[in-house]
Amino acid sequence: MADIESLLKETRTFKPDPQFSRSANWNKKTVAAYRKEGEKNPERFWARMAKENVSWFSPWKKVLDWKPPYAKWFVGAKTNVSYNCLDRHLEGENAWRRNKAAIIWEGEPGDSRVITYAELHREVCRFANVLKSKGVTRKDRVILYMPMIPEAAIAMLACTRIGAAHSIVFGGFSAEALRDRIVDADAKLVVTADGGYRKGEPFGLKAQVDAAVRRAPSVESVVVVQRTGQKVTMKRGRDCWYHEEMAAASPVCPPAKLDAEHPLFILYTSGTTGKPKGILHTTGGYLTHVATTTRAIFDLKETDVYWCTADVGWITGHSYVVYGPLACGATTLMYEGVPTHPGPDRWWSLIAKWGVTILYTAPTAIRTFIRLGDDLPKAHDLSSLRLLGSVGEPINPEAWIWYHEVIGGKRCPIVDTWWQTETGGIMISSLPGSVATKPGSATFPLPGIDAAILDEEGNEVKPSSGGLLALRKPWPGMLRGIWGDKARFKEVYWSKWKNTYFPGDGAQRDRQGYFWIMGRIDDVMNISGHRIGTMEVESALVSHRDVAEAAVVGRPDEITGTAVVAFVTPRGGVKPGAPFIKTLKGHVTKEIGAIARPADIRFTNALPKTRSGKIMRRLLRDIASGREVAGDTSTLEDFSVLASLKESDEN
Ligand code: WTA
Repeated sequence: MADIESLLKETRTFKPDPQFSRSANWNKKTVAAYRKEGEKNPERFWARMAKENVSWFSPWKKVLDWKPPYAKWFVGAKTNVSYNCLDRHLEGENAWRRNKAAIIWEGEPGDSRVITYAELHREVCRFANVLKSKGVTRKDRVILYMPMIPEAAIAMLACTRIGAAHSIVFGGFSAEALRDRIVDADAKLVVTADGGYRKGEPFGLKAQVDAAVRRAPSVESVVVVQRTGQKVTMKRGRDCWYHEEMAAASPVCPPAKLDAEHPLFILYTSGTTGKPKGILHTTGGYLTHVATTTRAIFDLKETDVYWCTADVGWITGHSYVVYGPLACGATTLMYEGVPTHPGPDRWWSLIAKWGVTILYTAPTAIRTFIRLGDDLPKAHDLSSLRLLGSVGEPINPEAWIWYHEVIGGKRCPIVDTWWQTETGGIMISSLPGSVATKPGSATFPLPGIDAAILDEEGNEVKPSSGGLLALRKPWPGMLRGIWGDKARFKEVYWSKWKNTYFPGDGAQRDRQGYFWIMGRIDDVMNISGHRIGTMEVESALVSHRDVAEAAVVGRPDEITGTAVVAFVTPRGGVKPGAPFIKTLKGHVTKEIGAIARPADIRFTNALPKTRSGKIMRRLLRDIASGREVAGDTSTLEDFSVLASLKESDEN
């Protein structure tokens, strides 16, 4: 609570610039009207948004069918996501967009491509035909395991064109993690690349796919994009090259007329217990949510060059690199590599080079740049920027102010956007033309969204007192379930209160009603804005033959927000020490990926447990962050454990 207390003392407010307000897509008057309608009749509001922002082949019979916890939006309507992102920008009064840049892509080595809407349409149709030729239908799942290259967006859109659900696995995940996801999704085809570029070096992807698919029998075909030209082995009858297939494919493929509730994608995300959850999103509601929020929050105009720095492997990459901006007919920038190659000013040179007008990124990146110094951004012309966004974790006021002053030149509004993989799109955020912002607050729920701060019993808490964030009404982009696990869906999200969604975050509202999000209250760590379950890292550690027991907690980290700390009890006879630490860090990287690699590993003979055998993580968290162990320890089974843990800290 201490963090949020200090955040709440933040008194600076930033009013919207009158000129910005006047030309905003959603001005003050519109927002006021939408809020009113959203409160009184959210279904009518969302139906209005669905008509305004999405094109439908046939209308719905019912806006919402809500049988808690199952929602169906725009029941009976037919649409297609790729049609909305492509075809409708080539026809009628929008036909001038044919030659507008849809994607501006820059590779890490400095190569680039500008792909127009007409060209993207042809490429997507071709790849949709490739998928069809491999026997993929609207009943199937396709895994994408790719670097940040245009082919990732092409493959996503091609799946939506024929109604196959995609499931993107972040390219930084290991072969093990990839295999688990392929098996869980029961996928028929994998799209990958030989590799990609990162920190100036090519990294491989195909070898991981080979290792994963060896033990994933559902996979019939693997399509490989040639990106780096590195040597890969191609298995005859299963593997084929993307460029060869595309050369032979027709650029004509009509979009499938899909039901609004047709599965669009599955995206795996970490939970408190067990393996990652396959979050299922569907077609019409998701598209309505992301198209509406992109237009309203980022205030997208035809002339904007919009850059969201997320990887397509995360939900932000799905909703706000690809689907939201393309549905709006915008120009979206994709960058392949790390921010620091070939120099630490790569992002700023990209902004200057392409004239980026909107930048949407994560606090962890902002904090990294603060540390690198103001000279780097100041050496580049960032005057094209007109709006900034933040996502992934609470942004600390210092980072907010730096972002505002050094990157935004004090002229750009900042939108701090709270949402989750499960919500599909942004839920709580400032609206740049109408809401006064406070550094560190995501401000208010969007029109049509009913968010509140509740206590365990479901009562709304008083202003300025901590509680749990809750969503009391269904929204169009909400998850429709956990793939293959109905019981877990109910248990994780809907069991705390009646008919109310529990996101797992703590929060407060101040006296003006502003929302201040505190972060996860469960055992999910938010590392550089990415969710990793403590449980996942623990199971990776104990899968090593020399580990008897492990407990993992997060500790605050200046740059990444949270760093992974592991307490490990080695098996008898195993020597704890630097070489073993290195082995274990490598082991976690192999099992999950570098993102979950522990920053610290500490050895201990025993873990602090309650009499019922539950690990007391609260104590471990205190020790990991170097704090005095505070609070109640009366349930601790063996007090000597605490003393020995503290000793291990001093060593
Ligand atoms: C956290 C990322 C504070 C939160 C889009 C949430 C935030 C989790 C914010 C979801 C924000 C995201 N302020 N916290 N603006 N945005 N979070 O699924 O804890 O990767 O529950 O989705 O990130 O992470 P996910």
